[in-house]
Amino acid sequence: MSNTVNLKGRHFLTLKDFTPEEIDHLVKLAARLKEKKKNGELVNHYAGKNVALIFEKTSTRTRCSFEIAAHDMGMGTTYLDPKASQIGKKESIADTARVLGRMFDGIEYRGFGQEIVEELAKHAGIPVWNGLTNEYHPTQMLATLLTIREHFGSEKGLKLVYMGDARYNMGNSLMILCAKMGMDFTACTAKEYFPEQELVDECREYAKASGTTITLTEAVTEGTKDADIIYTDVWVSMGEPEEVWEERIRLLSPYQVNKKVMDNAKDTAIFTHCLPAFHDLKTGVGREVYEKFGLKELEVTDEVFESKQSVVFDEAENRMHTIKAVMVATLGEFE
Ligand code: CP
Ligand code: NVA
Repeated sequence: MSNTVNLKGRHFLTLKDFTPEEIDHLVKLAARLKEKKKNGELVNHYAGKNVALIFEKTSTRTRCSFEIAAHDMGMGTTYLDPKASQIGKKESIADTARVLGRMFDGIEYRGFGQEIVEELAKHAGIPVWNGLTNEYHPTQMLATLLTIREHFGSEKGLKLVYMGDARYNMGNSLMILCAKMGMDFTACTAKEYFPEQELVDECREYAKASGTTITLTEAVTEGTKDADIIYTDVWVSMGEPEEVWEERIRLLSPYQVNKKVMDNAKDTAIFTHCLPAFHDLKTGVGREVYEKFGLKELEVTDEVFESKQSVVFDEAENRMHTIKAVMVATLGEFE
């Protein structure tokens, strides 16, 4: 355990705010907490603490991870959805932050613009954790990194290829993660979905320090060649209008993760996805898209999703252990 890293009182809003050493610390802490949980060893020194969980967008993994992690540690949770609270409509974010800051010990926020979670953090006076915004999904990144470490031992020098809308939360966050932690990052997608140049430039600075590269390419064969990790996400994210489906399908279909893509990657390559994923017709949205556009599988084929190379459920489980680590570290470590 690193003795120099102390994250007590810090917010967790984007990985841009964290050094590679701090990110490493969080993931190592998560691995220890995971082991303790597997051994039935309780880390429940947080009785009397309470956390508020604000979800302006829906969730399965993130909400359950925060709730289970908090309950495992003896904390109380209050779930707030926008319909059942005054947030945004009758009360500003700044006022909400000041009220919750008087009652709780930490606040998770999932919603729209990054500026909202930043505003919450500015006024809360307690740690605020980003559970996904349009721009970033930092807790997912810790789960990705823990999963990569469990699989490969170390992330250093690996090539991660992201296929899909690389301008949004997952593409942005993976580029930051790779650049900071020493993985080569490739966004393999239509040029319309390349990440913003400003963020690319910022990440190239991190990449310089970690000795890695950032590549943006439209060429699937070249882009996915020798990849260690192939990552994708839904083509249309929460909060985006239905009208964008047509364009996304047209421009992103060539970037579907299928067997050909996996065969072009290294033999040892893994596939992962933040989930939820559209890989069959067993979802309402999947069926609607099929009826309208005739596609049975979207960003990933069922064959790849269900293959041995797929580590999606390991990553989903790791959401809980890594979110627990974020709470432990920012509320004050006491394992
Ligand atoms: N990956 C993820 O954030 O999943 P949920 O939307 O279910 O929380
Ligand atoms: N890009 C997706 C990620 C879901 C975890 C979304 O924002 O809906």
